Amino acid sequence: MTTDAEVIIKVENLHKVYNKVHALNGINEEIRRGEVVVVVGPSGSGKSTFLRSLNLLEVPTEGKIYFEGTDITDKATDINKHRQRMGMVFQHFNLFPHMTVLKNLMIAPMKLQGKSEEEAKKKALELLDRVGLAHRADAYPSQLSGGQKQRIAIVRALAMDPDVMLFDEPTSALDPEMVGEVLDIMKELGREGMTMVVVTHEMGFAKEVADRVIFIDQGVIQEQNSPAEFFGNPQNKRLKDFLSKVL
Ligand SMILES: Nc1ncnc2c1ncn2[C@@H]1O[C@H](COP(=O)(O)OP(=O)(O)O)[C@@H](O)[C@H]1O
Ligand SMILES: [Mg+2]
Repeated sequence: MTTDAEVIIKVENLHKVYNKVHALNGINEEIRRGEVVVVVGPSGSGKSTFLRSLNLLEVPTEGKIYFEGTDITDKATDINKHRQRMGMVFQHFNLFPHMTVLKNLMIAPMKLQGKSEEEAKKKALELLDRVGLAHRADAYPSQLSGGQKQRIAIVRALAMDPDVMLFDEPTSALDPEMVGEVLDIMKELGREGMTMVVVTHEMGFAKEVADRVIFIDQGVIQEQNSPAEFFGNPQNKRLKDFLSKVL
């Protein structure tokens, strides 16, 4: 990752108010192509709201978000077109329960990208092979372990060839013995140059894979730095408190 890489997401003065809760309170941020950015912070600090705002799953109360140079907060922008360029993986897997693994991977490329069944299947099988799940192509989600489901959710997002992958606590709902297999796939993606924004409590992942770690608290970016500085030399009092609890 080079610091002069193209800015792929730019966030300006982002605010989000739910009823009376000020979930985001003026976020300014740039994500560059190829960066792995890890977002950490206490529960309720605004991490999910921040992530979900990046592809407008949450509509900002104030502020602008540019994705690949386009202002996606502009009402005239066709958000669906841009959203297809951003893969999203949630804590819960959101696979279609009535479709096989293979169909789960084929549906969006066929419906949204106009791929033929043959093309979509070829790509789906390649992706399954890559995450060691080719033998589960004909299984239904209910027949898979949590770790397998989450690996499928990741490749389902990758089937759309996204420019950015957004992860919201992708391992938080997993049994501990399944966390590693999901993090390994994410590590590999990061090494291959995928642009990633990852909300996680896995500090080991942040130390090992992140180019940058961001601490959000009370809807504000309180501090951000390289992992070495972030963990080794934190400045903000609230970050010090947070790290003392999670490390
Ligand atoms: N849909 C919603 N309606 C009302 N309040 C919400 C909603 N989503 C989040 N909030 C509130 O916004 C704040 C930030 O939430 P969230 O972004 O989910 O935090 P985090 O992901 O860091 O735990 C919290 O106070 C939360 O209760
Ligand atoms: Mg959250």
